[in-house]
Amino acid sequence: MNDYKDDAESTRKKVFIKTWGCQMNVYDSARMADVLAPLGYDRTDDQTLADLIILNTCHIREKASEKLFSELGRLRALQKAREVKGVKVKIGVAGCVAQAIGEEIKNRAPYVELIFGPQTYHRLPELLLRGARDVGCVLDTDFPAEPKFDFLPESQSHSQICGFLSVQEGCDRFCSYCVVPYTRGAEYSRTLTSIIAEAEVLVANGAREITLLGQNVNAYRDDSVGAGLAEIICELSEIKDLLRIRYMTSHPLDMDDALIEAHRDVPKLMPFLHLPIQSGSDMILAAMNRKHNAGQYRAVVERIRKVQPKLALSSDFIVGFPGESESDFEATMQIVRDIEYAQAFSFKYSRRPGTPASVMSEQVPEEVKEERLARLQALLRKQQTDFNKACIGETLSVLVENVSRRDGYMFGRSPYLQTMRVKGDVTMMGTEQKMRITQAYPNSLDGEWVPEP
Ligand code: 5AD
Ligand code: SF4
Repeated sequence: MNDYKDDAESTRKKVFIKTWGCQMNVYDSARMADVLAPLGYDRTDDQTLADLIILNTCHIREKASEKLFSELGRLRALQKAREVKGVKVKIGVAGCVAQAIGEEIKNRAPYVELIFGPQTYHRLPELLLRGARDVGCVLDTDFPAEPKFDFLPESQSHSQICGFLSVQEGCDRFCSYCVVPYTRGAEYSRTLTSIIAEAEVLVANGAREITLLGQNVNAYRDDSVGAGLAEIICELSEIKDLLRIRYMTSHPLDMDDALIEAHRDVPKLMPFLHLPIQSGSDMILAAMNRKHNAGQYRAVVERIRKVQPKLALSSDFIVGFPGESESDFEATMQIVRDIEYAQAFSFKYSRRPGTPASVMSEQVPEEVKEERLARLQALLRKQQTDFNKACIGETLSVLVENVSRRDGYMFGRSPYLQTMRVKGDVTMMGTEQKMRITQAYPNSLDGEWVPEP
């Protein structure tokens, strides 16, 4: 313990954390910074000034390990250059890639001192101290018996208008293309009490919007108090200064009645839902082991649109899954035409070692994947633009988040998660402002400020 103190009382050090991937990783990076603060580390945006560099990796995207090794090559050069000037820079690799290929990182990049998975970053101070004493690399990628959430410092030190709060981690669904159940482990939910306590700290530090995060967030359960995601949302809505609540990512089969009703009954719950479907073909959905078919997905969307007709719907799609025929792909295009999305993410299927789909026969040729992705993205882009255009003339409330360094404009988000520029000043930060929409673009809206009467 004394080691910590001595460290903290000497001159402050700098940590640079580079984050790849999802909001869960952004959240994890922020918490890494929190656990490092008592050791005397402040976060920096400039890696050339850092004493400690952590790469927080994501395994879902294509070529994740190649990207990591090429980044590590660059960092090795930086490390050597600083060594010449007498500064010892430590390098760490965190996140899902560290979890999946920790041994390989240790062998191929021996200058990496710390390797730790998403479940163990609360032990980062201990790892750093162990690394300082031992020679060589510390590898910590086990799934610990004790959940990481119980070990995190109570407060998030950084102040942000839009905060993220991790309520659940891991996934038990085992979609056949996905590494998450292997890299993030089994589903684990935090207690309702600890979530509300963290939310209160976030709001006290300036958060006005909270996005509840989890790989399968709507599978959240705290059985000790009989709470699901809807109960978290209801309790959060009681926090006076919290204006907005969102959540992601959801599985269609976990959209229970209580959560759907929350979209009707809780005004602070934003009319936005990220609900991945992946494919519109029942045969492909079965091969993906999604455990729902297209009809069930349509039924969930219908139920939620009934209670919240103005819902902005978002989704994830994978094209070129093994065995996907032109007619399977057409089923995806058709469901997109029928449902109409406000925004979406779409990917070419990519083989992930260790997942069942990676060894399926009938892998789809790259050029077919590319051509299908282009068609799907053209349709999704048009729907996104149409959704934005339909807002012209409407008055929307915008939560002002920050000031743009480029042009001095303020910017914020509409309830539907569209980005908006706002003429104004920094006093507007953290407030909701009424904006009449005058222009719509594929990725943003423009509008005029409507002063309060
Ligand atoms: N290939 C392509 N896309 C994938 N995703 C997850 N695994 C793969 C893969 N092997 C996409 C899914 C998921 C999103 C987070 O990433 O669409 O919903
Ligand atoms: Fe991966 Fe999501 Fe499927 Fe879980 S539900 S296995 S996180 S794609």
